[in-house]
Amino acid sequence: MAKLFFGSLLALSTLAVSLVEGNLVYPAYGGVPIADAGSVDFNNSLTDTDSIVSTAQIVDQKGGAAGDVIPPPPPPVMLTAIDGDLVNVTVDSLVADQTQSSPTKRSVKDYVQIFKGTGTGPNDRDGSIEGTGYLTFTVVDNSTYNVDACLNFCDRVEQCVFANLYYEFNNPGLDSGGSNLKCAVYADVHKASEKLNRGGQQLAPPPAGLTYIQQSTGWTTKSLPEPKTPDGFELVFGPTNGANNAPGYMGFAFIDRYDVQACADLCNTRGADSQGGNCQYFNIWRALVDGVPTTYTCSMYFLVADESTAVNFGQGDLAVSESRGYRRKNVIPDGGFEGFNCGTNITAPFCFTPGYSAWKGISPATGHLDASIFNYAPYARTGHGVALLGSAFGEDDFPGTLTPASSLDTEAGKTYTLQFFHSSAFSGPEGEADAFVEVHWNDAVIATIKPGFSSWTFYSFNVVAQGNDVLQFHGGKAPSYDFLDDVSLFLTIG
Ligand SMILES: *[C@@H]1O[C@H](CO)[C@@H](O)[C@H](O)[C@H]1NC(C)=O
Ligand SMILES: *[C@@H]1O[C@H](CO)[C@@H](O)[C@H](O)[C@H]1NC(C)=O
Ligand SMILES: *[C@@H]1O[C@H](CO)[C@@H](O)[C@H](O)[C@H]1NC(C)=O
Ligand SMILES: *[C@@H]1O[C@H](CO)[C@@H](O)[C@H](O)[C@H]1NC(C)=O
Repeated sequence: MAKLFFGSLLALSTLAVSLVEGNLVYPAYGGVPIADAGSVDFNNSLTDTDSIVSTAQIVDQKGGAAGDVIPPPPPPVMLTAIDGDLVNVTVDSLVADQTQSSPTKRSVKDYVQIFKGTGTGPNDRDGSIEGTGYLTFTVVDNSTYNVDACLNFCDRVEQCVFANLYYEFNNPGLDSGGSNLKCAVYADVHKASEKLNRGGQQLAPPPAGLTYIQQSTGWTTKSLPEPKTPDGFELVFGPTNGANNAPGYMGFAFIDRYDVQACADLCNTRGADSQGGNCQYFNIWRALVDGVPTTYTCSMYFLVADESTAVNFGQGDLAVSESRGYRRKNVIPDGGFEGFNCGTNITAPFCFTPGYSAWKGISPATGHLDASIFNYAPYARTGHGVALLGSAFGEDDFPGTLTPASSLDTEAGKTYTLQFFHSSAFSGPEGEADAFVEVHWNDAVIATIKPGFSSWTFYSFNVVAQGNDVLQFHGGKAPSYDFLDDVSLFLTIG
């Protein structure tokens, strides 16, 4: 009888469960697990918007071109808050191998003036910008009011989209350098209302006066450049004015400029959630408080969200802008086994197979269906698809091998994170005593799991790719059954 089922896609929902004697009804007969492998409920893991909004009210990441020592551009991205606590560290200190994108080539005609200066009359007094995303400054030749030189400087600084050009008087460091015309550049656009630095410092010994500023003008690129999508990620939506309010939330960070790569680095290095696993998605957005850029939020999630939940437009005086969502690309096709279907028009699917387009199960020569894929929601961690190691009909106690149908599209030399969820609860504590899974990466066994009786549990391992890699899960010893679901392989830079 069993031979009939081998190698074909089956719909067995009408098969009587009583086919099997004893209290264990084998998976191929749609048996009800003796013990529950645990259900997954992420309804309590929504974005903590209140914490983000309250932290945005206290973080201060505004800056401007103080002093007279020209810093080497570009400075690293700073992390200013993590999960509600204010901090002060660079993002690239979290990441070993920082990839830098090359600056976009622009020209002076790609800029427009967005505010004027007060002039250079004896009594004219102006202010320079104190704003977010401050990058660096230079001084330009002051024989003319040298807008072109300043915009050319902006062009050469990665991420620069805005320049503030002004004269600063009574600064001896500038005077000895031969020019007092400062060009400060930013990664975000600012308005005249942010001319908050009015000088007033005693930098030169009296009787020299206090520093003061004249003719402070603002220039911005005509369009904000589309950020480069980080390696290993893909854009899901944006830019919009809505931040995600979505399940699978892991926490947030504030960074000091709109830097998608920095947010990706934070996602890649974020510690895993014990129930949900590694970061798989992030939402980056700009907070405007009373219309002024104030901080850049990077929210991280272990579930992939999309624009349908990007419905948080702000709160009180805080408005969301430039919101984009990015998902981590899973190198494994159909890691959730959801692509295997029992056919349409079936309300409660139950079917199984030794393989389909994305995965194949391999049994030893004398074994039978020792690795299989089921479409049956009660067995799955999420959705309705799940993989099984161990004889589906309970006919033998040989381990089976489950592997993606094709070798993996990996890049040699890069480090990837393999994650999956495992349960061995089907046959109860006694029956599952011999449960095991070996994880094979090419020719090496990188891990052996012997959990005995276990509900859904998250596992994660780092592997180095050689290109066209082969992943195999080998295990099961019926009646000790091993279920696998939600298998992912993510690029992890560093
Ligand atoms: C989670 O929320 C969804 C949508 O509101 C609901 O359909 C589902 O039943 C909830 N799950 C649990 C376990 O409460
Ligand atoms: C952050 O650290 C740098 C270097 O240690 C320091 O110069 C700067 O003032 C600090 N910023 C804040 C906001 O604490
Ligand atoms: C140019 O800068 C030098 C040095 O600060 C200063 O002495 C000079 O007066 C400046 N020229 C103008 C036109 O502001
Ligand atoms: C599914 O049901 C619809 C409506 O009842 C019917 O038109 C369609 O032919 C069915 N498809 C299959 C594959 O049976």
